[in-house]
Amino acid sequence: MARYQTEIADVSVDFEGTLDRAAALLRRGELVAFPTETVYGLGADARNGDAVSAVYAAKGRPSDNPMIVHVASGEEAAAIAEWTPEADALMKAFWPGALTLVLPSRGVVAAEATGGLDTVGVRMPDHPIALALIARSSCAVAAPSANRSGQPSPTTAQHVYDDLNGRIPLILDGGATSVGVESTVLSLAGERPTILRPGSITPEQIERVIGGVELSPGALAPLESGEKVLSPGMKYRHYAPTAEVMLIDGRDDEVVQAICAYYDQLAGDKKVIIFTSRENARFYADRKYAIMGGKGDMEEYCRQLYAQLRRADDEGIEIILIEAVPSVSAGLAFMNRALRAAEFRLIAARTLLAK
Ligand code: TXA
Ligand code: MG
Repeated sequence: MARYQTEIADVSVDFEGTLDRAAALLRRGELVAFPTETVYGLGADARNGDAVSAVYAAKGRPSDNPMIVHVASGEEAAAIAEWTPEADALMKAFWPGALTLVLPSRGVVAAEATGGLDTVGVRMPDHPIALALIARSSCAVAAPSANRSGQPSPTTAQHVYDDLNGRIPLILDGGATSVGVESTVLSLAGERPTILRPGSITPEQIERVIGGVELSPGALAPLESGEKVLSPGMKYRHYAPTAEVMLIDGRDDEVVQAICAYYDQLAGDKKVIIFTSRENARFYADRKYAIMGGKGDMEEYCRQLYAQLRRADDEGIEIILIEAVPSVSAGLAFMNRALRAAEFRLIAARTLLAK
């Protein structure tokens, strides 16, 4: 793999010059990391199979895992995917924004970008740097999250640098991302609209536009072996830090009690941290904790999650105990990631207390 002197470019210093440089790199088949409103992406020209392959190599990601193709308008999306009235209604409601639509591919993006599937995921990101990069390069930009495969997605330019230093020429720095978890992936290619990956655009919001929508069984549970994998990204260990993660579920006071007891039992020989709501933090007294957000503020929880997982790894934390939240609305997106980080270890507080 080519080695690069990886540059982090502060886009606010010379927006025009930096974006021109980034666009030229993409057109030449090089990779550029860029911010979106969700997480940072690692972009390549979606029509250039070699450039797309270089993304898999830089991430260390299996090449059957399809990428999201980023566009700057609905017309560009309809040139890439077979458009439908449903897609049109959703686009009008949510683009630019954190909704990826999976539709039959027209075959104009490289087969490498769709992982050999006959469908393609497209989205128009809600971020001025991402949109400027797409428009100036005149490329549809295939971009997965800009992390090493298996690491939590990056929400800052520094996270991208930590994972990909030396592997890519340029990171566009637009500050911390505002959503913090990846887009909602909605398939319109099957019999019924199905959410393959929950995100900040909620099932309720989608239902208001197109009526009924299903949730892929893989969203909150491990897929049974043999079960059809609708979204290949769901089958790999994902979003996981090095530390061991556990989710504790149950009545609020029992969760706090169980976490305190478990923490005290573990903390003798392990470095432990608790991910808690702002309201519950005081119950943990001088134990080590990180606040995910106000109780019920799931947007804040989503914004915090990956950054806190990475910080825990940086600090050499060995065990992370997370207060589970209800899997509804944006809480669904949070639990989808937290469960994967925990490799689906969800423990009932009462079980812990009974020990
Ligand atoms: O917010 C986001 O979606 C970020 C930013 C950079 O846009 N991108 C991102 O990409 O999260 P990635 O590659 O990490 O995740 C893409 C997800 C994977 O779970 C993949 O399997 C699914 O979308 N996906 C992409 N194309 C698909 C297709 N044709 N059929 C089914 N699933 C698809
Ligand atoms: Mg990813």
